[in-house]
Amino acid sequence: MTKRLPPSEEGITRAAALLRAGALVAIPTETVYGLAGDASNGEAVAAIFDAKGRPSFNPLICHVDSMEAAQRYGVFGDAAARLAQAFWPGPLTLVVPRRESARLSPLVSAGLPSLALRIPAHPVARRLLASFGGALAAPSANPSGKISPTTSAHVLAGLEGRIAAVLDAGPCAVGVESTIVDCTGETPVLLRPGGLPAEALEQALGQPLARPQSAVNEVNPSAPGQLSSHYAPGKPLRLNPRTLPPDALWLGFGLGCEGATLNLSPSADLREAAANLFTMLHTLDAAPGAAIAVAPIPNHGLGQAINDRLTRAAAPR
Ligand code: TXA
Ligand code: MG
Repeated sequence: MTKRLPPSEEGITRAAALLRAGALVAIPTETVYGLAGDASNGEAVAAIFDAKGRPSFNPLICHVDSMEAAQRYGVFGDAAARLAQAFWPGPLTLVVPRRESARLSPLVSAGLPSLALRIPAHPVARRLLASFGGALAAPSANPSGKISPTTSAHVLAGLEGRIAAVLDAGPCAVGVESTIVDCTGETPVLLRPGGLPAEALEQALGQPLARPQSAVNEVNPSAPGQLSSHYAPGKPLRLNPRTLPPDALWLGFGLGCEGATLNLSPSADLREAAANLFTMLHTLDAAPGAAIAVAPIPNHGLGQAINDRLTRAAAPR
């Protein structure tokens, strides 16, 4: 049985104790719920891969509560330091060279010489990290390849009985995962569009972000997003179909979608759409209907992250 803990002082203390004992706890962040384990404990990290059924080559993000902690584990060059200063705590993950002295399980970064770090902004995540006192490895709290969870109900639908507890702080505000920037080379590279728009990062850096060589790299994915089919609902998903397939559910965006089953944002607000995305995909996946058709989403700001997730959800499996 998976325990449901409240976001009170007592709930947070119990979650921290479970984590220190090597157990897995799903935790709220401002982006999506994370499946957390002690990043210094190899068995706990292995249990994360196991609970998710995740391919072992896919490294995890380490969550910390301060820049001092981040610097204990990773080496921050100019670009990484500038981005951390501008956007942490927040929905940004920085991939940096891993410090040799970092006392973390090598499994956290799947044996890579780099490390993905993030300081989340969610107050409950921050209090938990402070109470736990170390780094928490946490991928999104969903079975591998499935839709990311933005509520504790989503977490339990996928992982009930496989994890010790879920710390329930209600729905996540951002609703898509963090933006991932690789700062290990000369030019920072946008590995995954996410909750922080690329435009904001480029403005803080004063230079454009590089894009990965190829958007789809099945052989050696360095971000999950690079597996072509990912974030997939059970039903087939079609993007912007010219005609609505019979028996399809329709996920709208903006005006002109009056007949839609659900609308990501009737007022065409990308922030609202991002926050609704995974919840609505979960709902449509569970509803009667043969397929899901999605209205076009503008491809700027958070629209890039939304379209990235939708393209993968629609990819051939
Ligand atoms: O918003 C988020 O980022 C959520 C919350 C829980 O923080 N977490 C999340 O984790 O989305 P996950 O594991 O589903 O996606 C993180 C991805 C990994 O799949 C991996 O491909 C990439 O980050 N990553 C981690 N370490 C990396 C590294 N050393 N080099 C390149 N990519 C890395
Ligand atoms: Mg994920």
